[in-house]
Amino acid sequence: MGTAVPPRARSEYRCTECGASQPKWAGRCDACGEWNTLVEEVVARAEQRRGGHGGTGARGHGAVGAAPVRLGDIAADAAPRFRTGLAEFDYVLGGGIVPGSLVLVGGEPGIGKSTLLLQVAARLEAAGIPTLYASGEESPEQVRLRAARLEEPTAGVPVLAETALERVIEQAGAVGARVVVVDSIQTAYSRDLEGAPGNVGQVRECAARLMRFAKEAGPAVLLVGHVTKGGGIAGPKTLEHIVDTVLYFEGESALDHRILRASKNRFGGVDEIGVFAMTAAGLVPVANPSEVFLAARHAGISGSAVTALMEGSRPLLVEIQALASKAGFGTPQRVSAGLDHRRLAVLLAVLERRARLPLADLDVFVNVVGGVRLTEPSADLAVAAALISSVRDRALPPEALFLGEVGLGGEVRAVSAADRRLAEAARLGFSRAYVGARTSLRGAAPGLELVRVDHLEELAHRLAA
Ligand code: TYD
Ligand code: MG
Repeated sequence: MGTAVPPRARSEYRCTECGASQPKWAGRCDACGEWNTLVEEVVARAEQRRGGHGGTGARGHGAVGAAPVRLGDIAADAAPRFRTGLAEFDYVLGGGIVPGSLVLVGGEPGIGKSTLLLQVAARLEAAGIPTLYASGEESPEQVRLRAARLEEPTAGVPVLAETALERVIEQAGAVGARVVVVDSIQTAYSRDLEGAPGNVGQVRECAARLMRFAKEAGPAVLLVGHVTKGGGIAGPKTLEHIVDTVLYFEGESALDHRILRASKNRFGGVDEIGVFAMTAAGLVPVANPSEVFLAARHAGISGSAVTALMEGSRPLLVEIQALASKAGFGTPQRVSAGLDHRRLAVLLAVLERRARLPLADLDVFVNVVGGVRLTEPSADLAVAAALISSVRDRALPPEALFLGEVGLGGEVRAVSAADRRLAEAARLGFSRAYVGARTSLRGAAPGLELVRVDHLEELAHRLAA
């Protein structure tokens, strides 16, 4: 009789693993077959009427009836990248922000995500590229307090304290923003979906909607996503396949430098890193990361070895520290920071069996200095050298570098891009490099004596000499 029907909600079940939705609950997901991953979600009426607008974002991409375009007909310079001038940030993205792209900046709370993106917005705004900084976490006054600490031209940045996604998109259109910062995706919510901000459904829907906004209207969107120490399930991990680029901001919040790493990039190389120092006036790009990571090194201390990692296309020298000490009662402890504990267990077993290093009754601690994480096996030889040095309580030669992967037989294998790693070591004054016997080198690194080792036992023997 003309009275409005109150909106009725219906439930659906979304898989936290693959993101697919299904109408009925089951023990496992119909789409990916994972067990116990379905979570109930209430879908508001408004969304139903629009035929499931949103969700995975598969529908409604681009204008209806768009015709195919030949790649050759698309002007190559149609969309030049936005450069912030924060050298390390631009570098990690592959040369600046791509218009129309969706970039996720993940990291633990307090690591500096808001600081970084406020600096980015300030620089772009000052360069004449309109921005919008939408914060769901802080009031404009709080953002201003942070801005006051920065040596950046922040005065012109439009700040919006808003958590409703529809309002953020509307305001971005109103100010004609070319780069929009959404801080953070966990505080954003869409009115079309019930459920609190931060739940998987809201997070995914908001990201999918921002993706459409970016692709249709053309601004780049930079999303902040909090990651907890344990890896954060309802947050950034579920967004990685939606967004174009994923940058993780890492480091120990207590130390003053931070590493920005591209873990996915549709428009540039992955695993590229940029290093920043967190100063009293915000983040400052570090031009010579190796020097910073080695700066605090003390010569003459046992258990310290240096290796050269390849981070994307750039070499990075880091120090690895090991400490082996007599264990108390029970099973000896094996603790590692920056190195996978399973990798450490393998290396300890290989050292014990193949190089006859007595480790069984020792507690072992391994640390990669500066909050760097070892992701490639090329650091094995350095970890082994640090352990040998600690067990014998005898310092390694301070000017030596260790480069090699260690196999289960104790054999030392060659690593990729050895030339570039050795060149960086030579540049920083290293004069000797222990490398796998079969390491192939195109040219000799100037001023670097090469010691080729075939096996861990040989390394142990040479270090004792
Ligand atoms: P923030 O950007 O708020 O972190 P996130 O958004 O990732 O949670 O950074 C917080 C930390 O950075 C805080 O501990 C203070 C520190 N900081 C500085 O050291 N210098 C500065 O200039 C600023 C703005 C912050
Ligand atoms: Mg923040």
